[in-house]
Amino acid sequence: MTITAHSRRDFLVRATHATALGMAGLSGPSAFATPRTQTSAAGANARPIPYGAAVRVDALTSDLSYRGAIIANCQIIVPEGEMKWPDIHPARGEYRFEKADALMDFARQNKIEVRGHTLAWYGGMPAWTAAIDGRAEAERELVDHIETVVSRYRGAIPSWDVVNEPLVDWPEGPTSLRPSIWTRQLGPDYLPIALRATAAVDPDAQLVLNEYDIEFKGPRFAARRQALLQLLRSLRERDVPLHAVGLQSHLFADRAIDRDGLQAFLNEIKALKLDVLITELDVIDYELPGKISERDALVAGLAGQFLETVCDVVRPKAILTWGLSDRYSWVPIYFKRPDGMPNRPLPLDADLKRKPLFDVIEEYRRKTV
Ligand code: XIL
Repeated sequence: MTITAHSRRDFLVRATHATALGMAGLSGPSAFATPRTQTSAAGANARPIPYGAAVRVDALTSDLSYRGAIIANCQIIVPEGEMKWPDIHPARGEYRFEKADALMDFARQNKIEVRGHTLAWYGGMPAWTAAIDGRAEAERELVDHIETVVSRYRGAIPSWDVVNEPLVDWPEGPTSLRPSIWTRQLGPDYLPIALRATAAVDPDAQLVLNEYDIEFKGPRFAARRQALLQLLRSLRERDVPLHAVGLQSHLFADRAIDRDGLQAFLNEIKALKLDVLITELDVIDYELPGKISERDALVAGLAGQFLETVCDVVRPKAILTWGLSDRYSWVPIYFKRPDGMPNRPLPLDADLKRKPLFDVIEEYRRKTV
């Protein structure tokens, strides 16, 4: 089978035609897309890998210093929650686009590109979806959601996390899918249904399958890499449109990066002609020492080790962190430090000052393979 999907234009080169909403994309090729005409290794890698962060729309409006930091540092943004089902599709047949549209306006005004997150996920589903009953209804609701959301932002969102976190924590095989409304009603078919529906609405969009806990040492993580590869192969064999794997990359200070395991995995991804994006990098620091200089150095060191491992094998199409500043992060909600000190998982501190993590990301963005 030839991978026709891969011949699509590079991530972020487009966004040049206006949508029905008048949401024109950036004019001309993206400032951070790899120029196709450059052929030498050095030339092809001359542009830094685009950097981005998850953002909160309310904070963009209410917090001007945060807004300024996003504009100053990000070539890409992704909504942390505003394009998830509960926000955008809170009731059956009812769509609310105010916040997502506000994010698109902000991005357009500031010439920042947007990644869409996410269309088919087990998590955070609004209560009404529990009543979805039967295969036909589930397929209709999933496809209707994708058609409505993706078509609204067609031409303005060049890359979608179509499928998020499909695997159970400790998979036994590619069919070890995480239970969800979608697996209950559609079984493993929910993946091709979602991917094909997205491709049908926006044939130019980069379709991403996004997953976490891929990078560490230990049998559970090895099982996850293996199951993910099998899942990707099975999608390829059925000619399902898919362009990239998103490595969420929520790193943990107490877990070691499996250099060999991750590199072998990435080589297989390359062989499948899939691109790689780092989509949600942060370092969960609840078990690290309290002392800030020490902690920041360890956080940056771990991220550096991870980025080195990845960038030795592939050049990620983008590097995004799950938030830009420690002021707004999901980490304290789920991984509060036992000593009560604030978490410091992100590239800027809560005062928007650059931390060593920022510098390490800069270093790898600019590295040529
Ligand atoms: C998280 C958000 O950051 C939180 O604000 C929200 O409460 C739950 O979701 N992997 C993902 C993201 O793909 O969507 C999650 O985001 C973090 C883990």
